[in-house]
Amino acid sequence: MGTSLTLAVIGCGSFSSGFVPLFKAHPLVNKVYVCDLIQELADTAAQRFGVEVIASFEEALKRRDINAIAIFTQRHLHGPQVLAALAAGKHVYSAVPMASEVEQCQQIVELVRKSGLTYMMGETCYYYPSAMFCRETYRAGIFGKFVYGEAQYHHDISHFSQKFRDDLRSAGIPPFYYPTHSTAMLLSAVDSYALKVVAFGYEDREDDQFFKKGINQWDNVFSNSFSMMKLANGGTARINECRRIGYKAPSSYVSSCYGTEGGYQFNNAQHVLTVKTPKGVTLTDVSERVNPVAVTENRHDPEFKQKVANHQWQWNSFAPIQQAEADRLPASFKAPDMPNGHMASHQLLVDDFCTAATFGTLPPVNAWEAARWTIPGLIAHQSVLRDGEVLAVPDCGDAPKV
Ligand SMILES: NC(=O)c1ccc[n+]([C@@H]2O[C@H](COP(=O)([O-])OP(=O)(O)OC[C@H]3O[C@@H](n4cnc5c(N)ncnc54)[C@H](O)[C@@H]3O)[C@@H](O)[C@H]2O)c1
Repeated sequence: MGTSLTLAVIGCGSFSSGFVPLFKAHPLVNKVYVCDLIQELADTAAQRFGVEVIASFEEALKRRDINAIAIFTQRHLHGPQVLAALAAGKHVYSAVPMASEVEQCQQIVELVRKSGLTYMMGETCYYYPSAMFCRETYRAGIFGKFVYGEAQYHHDISHFSQKFRDDLRSAGIPPFYYPTHSTAMLLSAVDSYALKVVAFGYEDREDDQFFKKGINQWDNVFSNSFSMMKLANGGTARINECRRIGYKAPSSYVSSCYGTEGGYQFNNAQHVLTVKTPKGVTLTDVSERVNPVAVTENRHDPEFKQKVANHQWQWNSFAPIQQAEADRLPASFKAPDMPNGHMASHQLLVDDFCTAATFGTLPPVNAWEAARWTIPGLIAHQSVLRDGEVLAVPDCGDAPKV
């Protein structure tokens, strides 16, 4: 099989360091460049991973031999960068979120539709085992009609990197400007999208400077936000985004998903499925299927619950429910030094992008899905600002069949 992609990774922060070796090792990738506004970061990444530096994002867009761009810049920068890369005729992989403005999401969808280029949002939670379990169970009809579900991304500001917290202009980003971990899990599971949203915010009360007017670039004062979304399939999703909260791991999770016939509940490594019977329910503990293998292997550890709550064993170990997906990964990813991360999702995402961009197929997390998982959050923040006004969520429609 020939290689097809020459790819420039834009942004050499900590997150992209887990992806550069995967792009480089993928059999469909010919060459990888790295780039950062901070030259030292680009030089260090190039040396560490044995790739070349490209001087700037703009230079990468001009280069005819580069046909793909992978954006790993700060979360509020993605929209305009994705649009510029698509306009320059490049396939685009972008870390989440899609964009910080509704219009940018709509423009990305339009550019992808017109150009036929690949856009993929690297939503790690699409492959989180709990999302995969709910997706599989819903598609098998076991839940019946979707009724109600809860998903959240809880990431306390004290658990972010020092580098992230040092940038006070950006660290206090409105929680709902980063909604896709939680929306992706639940909306992909029940194959639907939001029509309306109502949301409330928690006005931060701590003395540090993160969520303060006049400090962050959005004048955002909310550290936590909570929403209810009315979905097109008639059900309701409760989606929360919390950045000041006494909780750690797993940071993104589906806590419940109920249908007319069955339901799923999760708490600290326990995953339970109930299915209605004429007299009650059957209850099945599905934890061994949904937890990463490393979690199950350590279930007799005397500190098991503490360690799970502190994020142990939930990084690069596949769960049995992910195995069928893991089986299609290229042989080069099976080398012991190949990185993976966020519930073993990184390798699957890189493979999805390289395959879609090479063969012109639609990646699972395509522009249409990315818009349906990003826009409800942006509108939810507007509802927070209007003290819980019910707002309509614009929709970009279904992805075309390719
Ligand atoms: N689970 C997940 O999906 C997940 C986890 C972590 C981070 N992320 C996302 O990944 C992205 C990167 O995160 P990070 O922690 O590495 O951030 P970071 O701030 O450490 O790194 C971003 C880098 O991009 C560089 N950059 C910005 N604009 C640029 C430009 N025009 N040209 C070249 N370089 C530019 C910056 O100088 C910086 O070094 C963020 O968008 C974040 O939301 C996603």
